[in-house]
Amino acid sequence: MADKPTKGLADVVAASTALSDIDGKAGRLFYRGYDIHDLAGRTTFEETAHLLQHGSLPSRDQLAAYGAELVRGRTLGGLVASNIPEIAAKQEPMEALRTLVSLAGADDADKDSNAADANLRKAARLTAQQPLLVALYHAARTGATIPDPDPELSIAANFLLQITGRTPSQREVEIFDTCLVLHADHTMNASTFAARVCAATLSDMHSAIVAAIGTLKGPLHGGANEQVMRTLEAIDPSGVAQTVRDKLAAGEKIMGFGHRVYKTEDPRATHLRKMSRELGEASGDDTYYRMSKEMEEVVFAEKGLYPNVDFYAATVYHYLGIPTDLFTPVFSVSRMSGWTAHVIEQHADNRLIRPDSEYIGERDQKWKPIDER
Ligand code: ACO
Repeated sequence: MADKPTKGLADVVAASTALSDIDGKAGRLFYRGYDIHDLAGRTTFEETAHLLQHGSLPSRDQLAAYGAELVRGRTLGGLVASNIPEIAAKQEPMEALRTLVSLAGADDADKDSNAADANLRKAARLTAQQPLLVALYHAARTGATIPDPDPELSIAANFLLQITGRTPSQREVEIFDTCLVLHADHTMNASTFAARVCAATLSDMHSAIVAAIGTLKGPLHGGANEQVMRTLEAIDPSGVAQTVRDKLAAGEKIMGFGHRVYKTEDPRATHLRKMSRELGEASGDDTYYRMSKEMEEVVFAEKGLYPNVDFYAATVYHYLGIPTDLFTPVFSVSRMSGWTAHVIEQHADNRLIRPDSEYIGERDQKWKPIDER
């Protein structure tokens, strides 16, 4: 007979990884041993993706080679490119990305190989294509024409330009790039676990990423950043404290708060709070930042809960001009670097992931023919 399960697998160690590590009590996060506070604002997203996928922060030559691979890798295959307009008309953003990544898998030259070199090539292509898929989806549904990505610009700069239709300031690019760095990997979060379960059957990288995207979509995971903005938009700025108290009294969860692992401030929220404040003040209307700050104080006073990565990411993306329903897709643009690195790691030292379950159903049922039931 199986043991009692740990609901939600809390505290269960489900995999070994050299990619990221969290100290939930101290509120610390590391990518391959580097403190997130040392990486944020000093290391680009491209360098971070190289760190996760290839195992080291790149030298200048390695970064140039990886950057060139990313530029080559964003060329979309015919199947995915030709289907974007119809998908944009029929599917919500995260549903569309799930479909588009699946189609991109059919176009991928390495689709039939899980070998280490093929996985590295696919990881670069997926990382390069995800921001473009979001931008092309948004352009298709709005009827906008967007510029081709500029090979001289970073992923962050190209994405902001394509999504907002205006050239972002250098500071906006730096801030968005830091957001991508902060969201790149996070140990055994739900979407990464989903990707590893899929990869552990020796299924291919695109299948694992499709599983991850479907998992990130949920409001208890990546979908929370969109819900944070919708909550802020729905609240009267003068009634923040009362609305939060009413929601809590009604047993509602406040999106963007709480975390399975952090028992103190999420170190990513520390950076996002500062960037939200800076962008809010620069915009001339920091109402949403001030509302967020008040929400944070009330939720802490009432429940002792801290904001997670999704809370201040919402207002940062809002101030950068990103449409609210693209917040979770933006998360996927960044997390693609971590997901793909986890698939590489899983395939390199694989065993099928197949836990046990506790049976709680009926026993000793007596079978009856259909007319006697
Ligand atoms: N608002 C109000 N109460 C909360 C919240 C919240 N955001 N989060 C947790 N709680 C309360 C629960 O109601 C529960 O209280 P109880 O013991 O009195 O019933 C207690 O704290 C424990 O909560 P659980 O949901 O059991 O904690 P768990 O570890 O399973 O969930 C989670 C973590 C999903 C992040 C949770 O805090 C939550 O739902 N937060 C809101 C959604 C969110 O922001 N998700 C993004 C997480 S970060 C990420 O995925 C990128």
